[in-house]
Amino acid sequence: MMGYWPPGSTGLNHPLRHCSTIKNVQTIRVNTPSAKYNVIAGSGLLETLAPRILRTVDKLPRRIFVLTSPEIWALWGEAFQRSFAEPPVVLFLEPGERNKNMRSVERLTRELLRAGADRGSLLIAFGGGIVGDVCGFVAAIFMRGIPFIQVPTTFLAQVDSSVGGKTGVNLPEGKNMVGCFHQPLAVFADIAVLGTLPERELRAGLMESVKSGVIRDRSLVRFMEQHASQILSRDTKALERVIAASIRMKADVVAHDEHDTGLRMILNLGHTVGHALEQATHYKVLLHGEAVGWGMVAVFCLARQRGTISASQFDRLERLIHLYGPLPALNLRAAKVVAASGADKKNLNGVKRFVLPLGIGDAGVVDNVTPAELEAAVGYMLTQASEKPASS
Ligand SMILES: NC(=O)c1ccc[n+]([C@@H]2O[C@H](COP(=O)([O-])OP(=O)(O)OC[C@H]3O[C@@H](n4cnc5c(N)ncnc54)[C@H](O)[C@@H]3O)[C@@H](O)[C@H]2O)c1
Ligand SMILES: [Zn+2]
Repeated sequence: MMGYWPPGSTGLNHPLRHCSTIKNVQTIRVNTPSAKYNVIAGSGLLETLAPRILRTVDKLPRRIFVLTSPEIWALWGEAFQRSFAEPPVVLFLEPGERNKNMRSVERLTRELLRAGADRGSLLIAFGGGIVGDVCGFVAAIFMRGIPFIQVPTTFLAQVDSSVGGKTGVNLPEGKNMVGCFHQPLAVFADIAVLGTLPERELRAGLMESVKSGVIRDRSLVRFMEQHASQILSRDTKALERVIAASIRMKADVVAHDEHDTGLRMILNLGHTVGHALEQATHYKVLLHGEAVGWGMVAVFCLARQRGTISASQFDRLERLIHLYGPLPALNLRAAKVVAASGADKKNLNGVKRFVLPLGIGDAGVVDNVTPAELEAAVGYMLTQASEKPASS
């Protein structure tokens, strides 16, 4: 049987409904004009996932479906299912950016139909940002939209992609070119699940937290400076602190600018150059967070040249990036990166916008960066990047 609760059951008497809650769970409220929901972060959340979902939904879902990847399911599937009276129906997405596409969306929507999904069904994304983006998009368009819940399993997905409602897939012509906003009903970020995350993925994800601190939370920057060894050794308390602060920052920005027309732009610190580096290396050399790490080094350099941060603040921020490295080595020309960023002479016209740190814990947008200025900052970064040993 594929249902969530046994037929005829209200689900309200589920044995785990009143189970004791896990200590040190943090609840962060996301209030956007279109939806209000909680992000719950803590270690061991999977143990009580079903009753927590039950408390979240207004109406009991007729069926529950989970989208995950085979490798995540092999590691965590059993723990995931344990709190459910009836196991949810599992759909799979093979890992990798190349599977975040329209073909997967068509396959998954058809599989949902064939498995009996309808408008009363609930979808759960159980995986990293790729699973989350595809699952959210499928939920947004299946029968004109069904609710979904995010259970992110990578650091990046916990602090960034699961919050904010951006969903979508790639086209051969470009990344994230088809998608929509569809906010989840709730996000459950179980920190224990990060225990199996490859070290490189953790370090890359941490770059998004560095970004969060730099743009809006000076105390997070200080904490990350002082507790790198605990964070990198996955000490639960240290991770909780960083994850909760990063989510809080994102929730706050998204609440003010749900559809990315203004303030949300500050979340792009380091991303213009980061995306250009990903593109110039054909998405084969850098994880997204690593590209953002190098992108931030370039932008910090730009900020120092412009005087929005002091020389000592620049040193401090650059050290912080390297504390969470190593970032892979790059062998690129600055002009190529500037061209890939779309900010070369042809396209600039004074409108390419850059997010720059204003001191530490604040950021602003400038729109008059010249190609020469950008090339100098990228050149500085590439000098460092060519000296770095490649990470494994
Ligand atoms: N929607 C948004 O707002 C938003 C924001 C940022 C990024 N994104 C998207 O997120 C995607 C990147 O997400 P990601 O960095 O999470 O990568 P990912 O989803 O590719 O996951 C990285 C790898 O880690 C594996 N993995 C996941 N959890 C694991 C665990 N607990 N233990 C062991 N292995 C695990 C995955 O199977 C995968 O191989 C990109 O497609 C990007 O465009 C979306
Ligand atoms: Zn990012």
